Amino acid sequence: MRKKIVAGNWKMNKTLEEGLTLASEVVNMVKDEVNNQAEVVLCTPAVSLHAVSKLVEGSKVKTGAQNCYDKESGAYTGEISVSMIRSVGASHVILGHSERREYFGESNTMLADKVNLTLKAGLTPIFCCGETLKQREAGIHIAFVNSQLTESLFHLSAEEFQKVVIAYEPIWAIGTGVTASTAQAQEMHAEIRKHIASKYGQAVADTISILYGGSCKPDNAKELFACKDVDGGLIGGASLKSRDFVDIIKSF
Ligand code: PGA
Repeated sequence: MRKKIVAGNWKMNKTLEEGLTLASEVVNMVKDEVNNQAEVVLCTPAVSLHAVSKLVEGSKVKTGAQNCYDKESGAYTGEISVSMIRSVGASHVILGHSERREYFGESNTMLADKVNLTLKAGLTPIFCCGETLKQREAGIHIAFVNSQLTESLFHLSAEEFQKVVIAYEPIWAIGTGVTASTAQAQEMHAEIRKHIASKYGQAVADTISILYGGSCKPDNAKELFACKDVDGGLIGGASLKSRDFVDIIKSF
């Protein structure tokens, strides 16, 4: 059985105090209401990661960073390393989010280095991929997403690859209120799994959790999560409200 995962991506939202309130609401609601086995991860702003990690200790909720730097340590003012992330109690790192690719010029090659460091630190990368609307309209979306996976992940051994979580996030669906249809999501998730199988074999591909991201909300999570190859979600906007986020977790 593949792991079911719901990860919240808070992006650049919530002060420390607001983040602690949100996290404690999520912890309590998950404890009281959630009886499925979904793994829950809160990817907070870096400055809140330590405090939120402490707060969720002993609960079913885990924490993650939204990015890391592609070097281990040194004179890189303002950057955050994987060992720092590990040291504050987080277990996951989002890598290659489309906002980082777009606004911070993150390339597939740079992301390959980040993936390596993340795995070496014992953290779980949540590797994001996804096409623009233009690419979808041109019919090159599958090839484009496959190339993102090939260039940033396919140097890994099968053992390493099995530690990676993939998040398919069509850029046209992120923060827009436009969700991929279940048919579009299932098609791409199946293509991603097929591409992984072509490199690592079907048995490995069948163990990889592939999350959907892009305007996933309580009212569409159920049908998305019911798709055969959709193993959960990476949730932006709806992760900022505890009620919405927990309702999404309950959608399996
Ligand atoms: P959204 O963001 O749920 O607000 O569309 C998803 C993401 O960017 O991870």
